[in-house]
Amino acid sequence: MNMDVIVSLCKRRGFIFQSSEIYGGTGSCWDYGPLGVELKNNIKRLWWRDNVQLRPDMVGLDASILMHPSVWKASGHVDHFTDPMVDCRECKRRFRADQLDEGPWLHFCPATKGNKFTVPAGEPCKHCGARRMLCPECGKGELTAPRQFNLMFKTFMGPVEEDAAMTYLRPETAQGIFVNFDNVLQSMRPKLPFGIAQIGKAFRNEITPGNFIFRSREFEQMEIEYFVNPRDRVEGRAADEYWHDRWIDVCEAWFVRYGMAGENLKRHEHAADELAHYAKRTVDIMYRFPMGWSELMGIANRTDFDLKQHAQTSGKSLTYFDEERKEHIVPFVIEPSAGVDRALLAFLLDAYREEEVRGDKRVVLRLHRELAPVKIAVLPLLKKRPEIVATAGELRATLAREWTTVYDDTAGIGRLYRRQDEVGTPYCITVDVQTVGDPDKGEAGDRRVTIRERDSMEQIRVPIPELPALFRELLGEGTWAAVTARYPRANA
Ligand code: GAP
Repeated sequence: MNMDVIVSLCKRRGFIFQSSEIYGGTGSCWDYGPLGVELKNNIKRLWWRDNVQLRPDMVGLDASILMHPSVWKASGHVDHFTDPMVDCRECKRRFRADQLDEGPWLHFCPATKGNKFTVPAGEPCKHCGARRMLCPECGKGELTAPRQFNLMFKTFMGPVEEDAAMTYLRPETAQGIFVNFDNVLQSMRPKLPFGIAQIGKAFRNEITPGNFIFRSREFEQMEIEYFVNPRDRVEGRAADEYWHDRWIDVCEAWFVRYGMAGENLKRHEHAADELAHYAKRTVDIMYRFPMGWSELMGIANRTDFDLKQHAQTSGKSLTYFDEERKEHIVPFVIEPSAGVDRALLAFLLDAYREEEVRGDKRVVLRLHRELAPVKIAVLPLLKKRPEIVATAGELRATLAREWTTVYDDTAGIGRLYRRQDEVGTPYCITVDVQTVGDPDKGEAGDRRVTIRERDSMEQIRVPIPELPALFRELLGEGTWAAVTARYPRANA
C-alpha cells in the first residue's frame, strides 16, 4: 500500500488538508476536512464509549493544555524529553541523530585514499569506522555533532514575555490526569483499580515530522491512566503486571473490532535501552504502515513515578487509602496511550481497496460502519423530476436526525455510487420514478426506495416508512444478510 494514494484520496475527498496550504503549507501540521472530522470524531467517540462509558472502573477528564511549568519539571520532560539532533552545515537541514543510520549513505573514505562507496544502512564504514558524516539530503554538507533538543514548545502566559511567565504546550495529555488524581479521588470516590481517561491535543516540536499524519507537531492523544495497588495480587501475579497484560490485549482487540486486519498488527516489547525514563515495561502495538512496521500506540507501566514526582514537587499528598490494609499507598499506573491521528491513518490504510467491477476499477474504503464518516447517501435517480428530488430531500432530513446523511445529485447514479464507495459510505438510497410514480401517465408510486450496500453492492427495495427502523438495525447490531432475507432484491 502506497502512502501517496491515501494522501491524494484524503485531499481529493475532503479528509485531510495540509495546514495553511495557501501559504505553502507547514508540512508538520494537518487540517481535517468535512469527512476527516467525521471520521476522527467517530474514532474518539467509539474509544470513549468502549473505554469509559461502558466500563464501571473508568471516568473521564478534560484538562487544560497549558499547565503550571513545574508540572514539566516534575514529570521529567524538561530534563529528559529530548532527541539527539544534528544539523547540516551546508543546507541547514536538521535530522534526528538516531535516524541517520536508517538509510545507506555515500562515503569518501579517508582510510582508502578518499575512495567513494555506499555504506549499508545501520553500519559504520568497515575501513575507517566512521558513521554518516555528510547530509543525507544535500549530500555535501558536513553534519554537526549530536546535540540534545527538547521537543516541548515553549510559550508565555500573561502579557509579559519573560522567563517567569514561560510554560509549555503539553507534549502528552497524561500529566493533566496525574495532577488531578486527588481531585478525582475526592469527588468520585473510586476504588482501586480504576482509570481516568482523556482525549486531547498534544504538541511536540519533532525534529523530523513526516509520513503524512503519522508524525506531526500538533496531534491528538487518547490516553488512560489506570491506577492499581501494586501490593494486590490478581490471578497469582502482581496487580500492575496483570493489568498491564490485560490492557495490551484490550487495546489490540479494539483495533481489530473496528475492522483492522490482525496480520497488520503486532506487538513490540521495549528493550531496556528503549524505555522512557518513567517506565518499568512498555509494549507498543505496531501497525504495518507503508514505511514499515511502526508504533500505533504504546502501553506502559509507569509505576508510581509520576504521582511521587508531583507529590514531591507540589508538596501535596497524592496517595490512596487502602481500607483493607489500613495504609496510604501510592498506586502504580498502567498507561494505554494512543494517537488519534495514527489510528485514523491506520484505519484508512487498512480499509482501502481497489477492486474490479465489470471491467471498471472501483476504489472502496471498507470502513467499519461505526467509523464511516457518512452513514447514508440519498441519491435521486433523475434530478429533473421535482417529486423525486423532493422525496430524496425529505428522506435526507429525516435520516439526518439520527445519522450523518448526505444528498447528492451532481452526477449519474453509477458515478454517485463510486463516489460514496471511495469515502466508505455503507449505504446508499436511490429514489426513482417507481418510488414517486408518474402523474402524466396516471401511475401512483410504490413509496419504496432502493438500498445499496457498499461491500456486496447488493440492492433491496424497502418501503420508505420502514427506513428508520431498518437503519437502526443495519447501523446497530444487525447484519445485511439478515435484512436482505426480508426484502425483495432490486436489479443492480
Ligand atoms: N503519555 C505517553 C506518551 O505520550 P508516546 O509513545 O510518546 O507516549 C503515545 O505517545 C502515542 O501518541 C503514540 O503511540 C502515537 O500514537 C502518538 N504520537 C506520539 N507522537 C506523535 C506525533 N508526533 N504525531 C502523531 N502522533 C504521535
